[in-house]
Amino acid sequence: MYKNPESGTVSRTTVNTLMKKKQAGEKIVCLTAYDASFSYLLDHSGVDVILVGDSLGMVIQGHETTLPVTMDDMVYHTRIVASQCQRALLIADMPFMSYSNINQALSNAARLMKESGAHMIKLEGGETQLEVVRHLARSGIPVCAHLGLQPQSVHKLGGYRVQGRDKKDAKSMLLSARALQDVGADMLLLECVPSSLATDITHSVEVPVIGIGAGSECDGQILVLQDVLGITPGTPPRFSKNFMLGNDSIQKGIESYVQAVRDGSFPSEEQSFS
Ligand code: KIV
Repeated sequence: MYKNPESGTVSRTTVNTLMKKKQAGEKIVCLTAYDASFSYLLDHSGVDVILVGDSLGMVIQGHETTLPVTMDDMVYHTRIVASQCQRALLIADMPFMSYSNINQALSNAARLMKESGAHMIKLEGGETQLEVVRHLARSGIPVCAHLGLQPQSVHKLGGYRVQGRDKKDAKSMLLSARALQDVGADMLLLECVPSSLATDITHSVEVPVIGIGAGSECDGQILVLQDVLGITPGTPPRFSKNFMLGNDSIQKGIESYVQAVRDGSFPSEEQSFS
């Protein structure tokens, strides 16, 4: 187990730690990882939350979308990340169509916790997922609900676009965020949402809100590891930043990201939407 050099004790980040950080106004640093080596590096660089994202379908498997990712893929990648994750809270994504009813959601979420060692699962959706989130929460499974741009719905949305720009959509996202908290979600993630809406949501719920392309006022930030390392296949998203620029090692690049999230210098206006 990882030992704190000063106290000699291991301190695992938990849902309570994250809640306290929100209350204290301390930024929460999150990053994706898909294998053991990066899990070790992130865990020793001060990252609070490691997400095994279904973005692995694109950045590891080379698919155009996250849709082909299977439960077995998620179980495998989460297990190898868990092997070196001793301090951070570990979240695993529920892949496309793995939570289309409450029973399916519970048995797949249980696999990620029992077989892989995840501490929380993440699923995409607002109002439509209330029953699933309630069922998982009642079964003792911590849930992060992903709102805003939901990549698993890319074909329904007609592309990767900023969500919640018009008044009606913004109001419905705010209501969904509160409803998800009320049925037991422990964390919310907002992707590609105007900064003002993300700020309103962050202030109107008690659980931590993590942003990606959602401005600087969220309680924490997350990016896809490959974007931070500047090795994204194709064009990186506008909300991302290559932290390898000006750094001569991967470790320093990761540490720069951690520092920039903690001191609030990332994201800037350049990586945010209005
Ligand atoms: O799959 C993923 O990596 C994600 C992040 C974009 C937040 O959901």
